[in-house]
Amino acid sequence: MKILVLGGDGFCGWPTSLHLSQLGHEVFIIDDFSRRRIDVELEVDSLTPIQPLSVRLDAWQRVSGKRIGFAHLDICADYDRVLEVIGSFSPDAIVHFAEQKSAPYSMKSTWHKRYTVSRNTSATTNLLCALLDAGVDAHVIHLGTMGVYGYESAGLMLPEGYVDAILEDPKGRLSKRRILYPFDPGSVYHTTKTLDALLFYYFNKQDGIRVTDLHQGIVWGTSTKDTELSEDLINRFDYDGDFGTVLNRFLIQAAVGFPLTVHGSGGQRRAFINIRDTVRCIELALMSPPSSGSQVRVLNQMTEVHRIRDLARLISRLFRVEVNSVSNPRTEDEENALDASCDGLVQLGLKPTLLEEGLLRELEYIARKYHHRVDSSRIPSQSLWSHRFK
Ligand SMILES: NC(=O)c1ccc[n+]([C@@H]2O[C@H](COP(=O)([O-])OP(=O)(O)OC[C@H]3O[C@@H](n4cnc5c(N)ncnc54)[C@H](O)[C@@H]3O)[C@@H](O)[C@H]2O)c1
Repeated sequence: MKILVLGGDGFCGWPTSLHLSQLGHEVFIIDDFSRRRIDVELEVDSLTPIQPLSVRLDAWQRVSGKRIGFAHLDICADYDRVLEVIGSFSPDAIVHFAEQKSAPYSMKSTWHKRYTVSRNTSATTNLLCALLDAGVDAHVIHLGTMGVYGYESAGLMLPEGYVDAILEDPKGRLSKRRILYPFDPGSVYHTTKTLDALLFYYFNKQDGIRVTDLHQGIVWGTSTKDTELSEDLINRFDYDGDFGTVLNRFLIQAAVGFPLTVHGSGGQRRAFINIRDTVRCIELALMSPPSSGSQVRVLNQMTEVHRIRDLARLISRLFRVEVNSVSNPRTEDEENALDASCDGLVQLGLKPTLLEEGLLRELEYIARKYHHRVDSSRIPSQSLWSHRFK
């Protein structure tokens, strides 16, 4: 299969590109290195020493004998080149990771809000329009987030995209409709993912573009079998307060003996997935594309739901580190009842990586190995969710 990976230099995109190339697919990456530029803006760096993309690609060719193609371009700003690449490569599938992915970063200031909205929505719009202009019927796989629904499922299992609703007209007559499960985003970043969902809904309905929207949980872990083949292939590990996801931040705190910073009571329940399962889920989604004419397929790409304070307790017990409650910079419920279904991917063949098993590997091979690169002052989250008219 010919697969275009948008955002293939990023945390999820890089190991996915290697995995797909290892499986024998022809992989072509587009990336504008905006994520690396944000590190410069925030004066932070990946815990792991990630190499420039050209070094990564050469290392991959050396260890695997396979070549991955690359174009350095901004999907938002350079529509003509996106069109040219899609037209000449003519992919069977496109995996779309290329968005600003941090909720705290999207909340730093009104500039960051505008940046996130304009980048994420125009990347998706440009991709969909380029498929139409190029006349390429590729299956689009997009990485969305479980956070589009907010984090309260009120005793229900969050479904995979759709729900059957009973609507009542003014005369009291009832009718049934299958609708997108109501969105309830909790940050500007999450709002852009709901806008993406509507764009997919429209372009699928109107133009028949085949789309799988993977509503991904919080990704933890760093390496996959492929990234472990050479130090030059190492994946990104963000631990800073804006881009580090909660489990990775706990791991690095454990490695340097910094008390785990739990926001508020830590009663927030969140969905998680290991990076090894992320790459496998994308493979599974690619291997079973929606048939032409079918509506957008939504799959919940997560494997476990945990309360943050339970994760902190687990890591504290495993690695003998203290837990500290800090005031929550986010506007969110202190306690929530989240449950979600991930039947779709399990039915396609996913076998989840267990948390305890993966945590030990991460601490040993990543957090402890590179802990000398940590700047502890960067671990706490600084972005406030507090611009609010009273
Ligand atoms: N990491 C997670 O925990 C997580 C959870 C849920 C959903 N997701 C989603 O998965 C996707 C990938 O996340 P990630 O963690 O790999 O993020 P990342 O920031 O590490 O990777 C995104 C990549 O896309 C590139 N990019 C961004 N905008 C671009 C543009 N306009 N043109 C070309 N390249 C561009 C960046 O330079 C970067 O290399 C995102 O859409 C994110 O919202 C991630």
